[in-house]
Amino acid sequence: MKNLLNKKILFIICGGISAYKSLETIRLFKKNGAEIKTILTTSAKKFVTPLSITSLSQGKVYSDLFSVENETEMDHISLSRWADIIVIAPATANTISKLAQGTTDDLASTVVLASDKDIILAPAMNVRMWEHPTTKTNIKKLKGFGYKLIGPDVGDMACGEYGEGKMSDPSVIAEEVDKYFLNQKNNKKFKALVTAGPTNEYIDPVRFITNKSSGKQGYELAKSLSKKGFDTTLISGPTNLEITKDINLIKVETADEMLVATQENLPVDVAIFSAAVADFKINKKYENKIKKQENLNLNLEKNVDILHYVSNHNSMRPELVIGFAAETNEIDKNAEEKLNKKSCDWIISNDVSNKDIGFNSDYNEVTIHYKNKDVKKEKLSYKKKSGISDEIVDRIIDQLN
Ligand code: PMT
Repeated sequence: MKNLLNKKILFIICGGISAYKSLETIRLFKKNGAEIKTILTTSAKKFVTPLSITSLSQGKVYSDLFSVENETEMDHISLSRWADIIVIAPATANTISKLAQGTTDDLASTVVLASDKDIILAPAMNVRMWEHPTTKTNIKKLKGFGYKLIGPDVGDMACGEYGEGKMSDPSVIAEEVDKYFLNQKNNKKFKALVTAGPTNEYIDPVRFITNKSSGKQGYELAKSLSKKGFDTTLISGPTNLEITKDINLIKVETADEMLVATQENLPVDVAIFSAAVADFKINKKYENKIKKQENLNLNLEKNVDILHYVSNHNSMRPELVIGFAAETNEIDKNAEEKLNKKSCDWIISNDVSNKDIGFNSDYNEVTIHYKNKDVKKEKLSYKKKSGISDEIVDRIIDQLN
């Protein structure tokens, strides 16, 4: 396990009988060179003591949200920023429920909500609790947020029952976390470019043609790529969104500007075109504000199709070119047509006639149409755009590797 060396792990222990196994997990992290800070929930302290954890981890143990000592030394926001990853093991039904609802009534749940890092959960609970529809719904929701799961396993439980709900072995947890960092290292070398948002095509100095794109889908894709180690450039039309500093953000307004910014930022390994680029621009923009008049005929001319241009670039075509298709009808047929016409590798279609997904929603449901794969299409079910983006990026990583 070479990839844990110097990695900062924020380890959260919740109150369950398998909390005793967390000592072995900490020992393995430590043995392999990781730096560890631990958060114990109140009920976890009934199973393991801060003293035993400090002795093993040689790192500080935190548990009180309102501790003056902790807040002056490292407040809950700094704690979430400090970590390279947050691992929660065991993750109890109670903590899983709190994270799914966004409840912040203790240090662990507050730190997780305040964090922009990846979160790995190793659930542990009685089989009936694990199989309860509430837990299933909470887990589905967390997966949608991009949380990763290790286990739970099937086996004999401390309560005497048998079934699914047993926490994975500490060695499995340590190996999975090691694998996470290995993937991150492998992805580091890849460069990604994402286009997002609408474009504004000016008629005169104050009027323009645009569309309903908010940029949310593209921004979430850029965040997922960056989180997984891609060197990421985001070329964005006008939006109200913000993005983390690790992403190279280039703001543009028109399709022409988006084309130039794209050209200037090639070559990359993967390019994703999620922007809703205006198909047309005004043939000759009016220099002054147009006066009121009975009729106004506008001459439109076609914008360059950036996706088509990049897909057909001789020397700088990215290894993977991905387009989006915003469709209202005959979605599969139209998406497949676009896949061929635009010469890209994947087209990701979304049904924008459904107002709960697509334009401006925080949620989406998409189908990936593949050009050169045995499986021709794959549906990613309704979830937050952040979760959809994580799933798309997982597939990009598989493809590039
Ligand atoms: O921004 P959000 O509010 O989060 O909404 C997300 C979204 C619905 C905008 C997004 O998921 C989406 O579907 N984006 C593509 C929208 C679109 O304009 O599709 P299209 O079918 O018109 O274009 C097909 C593809 O060609 C797209 O990848 C587009 O970026 C690209 N294109 C189109 C025209 C052009 N001149 N240049 C391009 O690169």
